[in-house]
Amino acid sequence: MTKLLFLPGSLRAASSSRALTRKLVDLVGDRASCETADIGALPHYNADVTDDATVDAFIASVGAADGVVFVTPEYNYSVPGVLKNAIDWASRPAFESVFKGKPCFIVTVSGGATGGIRAQGHLKYILNGMLAVPHADREIVVPFANKKVTDGVFEDADVLAFAGAQLDDFLAGLG
Ligand SMILES: Cc1cc2nc3c(=O)[nH]c(=O)nc-3n(C[C@H](O)[C@H](O)[C@H](O)COP(=O)(O)O)c2cc1C
Repeated sequence: MTKLLFLPGSLRAASSSRALTRKLVDLVGDRASCETADIGALPHYNADVTDDATVDAFIASVGAADGVVFVTPEYNYSVPGVLKNAIDWASRPAFESVFKGKPCFIVTVSGGATGGIRAQGHLKYILNGMLAVPHADREIVVPFANKKVTDGVFEDADVLAFAGAQLDDFLAGLG
């Protein structure tokens, strides 16, 4: 069965990224096996650390995934440090990491009007540097994301229809 690894870029319990991640997992349903990584459990990147079980498990989960789905806010015009930390762990050896050739799907959110578009551009550039393959389609940005979450449930029919259709295409491309 197709395996998807979801990487929400926010750790907070009431996160709109995490709420949207849960909804996207629901939309995928039984068409793929979905895992959501706990990137907050990873230590800070340190090349001297070569025997950390949490790191090893995370890298293995990226390697085992047929596709990686990023759902992340923008922090200070870029990707959150906690997400970049996770990416850095899985990025070695350079150009030969588990991200090489990995199909990636990106959704960005923001509390404000811009939907994380700058973080989306940065994330694509980062993935390009690891020879990963960001899904080429219309960009999915979700402005005012916190207003779309009630009791931990993300609700916006238009966003979910738009993102869901592209996620369908992404899934179809994974075979
Ligand atoms: C450290 C920090 C930096 C932020 N920088 C930006 C930013 O550059 N652009 C933006 O649109 N929102 C920014 N925000 C607001 C986030 O979009 C908002 O807090 C969003 O809800 C975070 O995602 P989450 O709901 O998944 O936690 C920032 C928030 C934090 C905490």
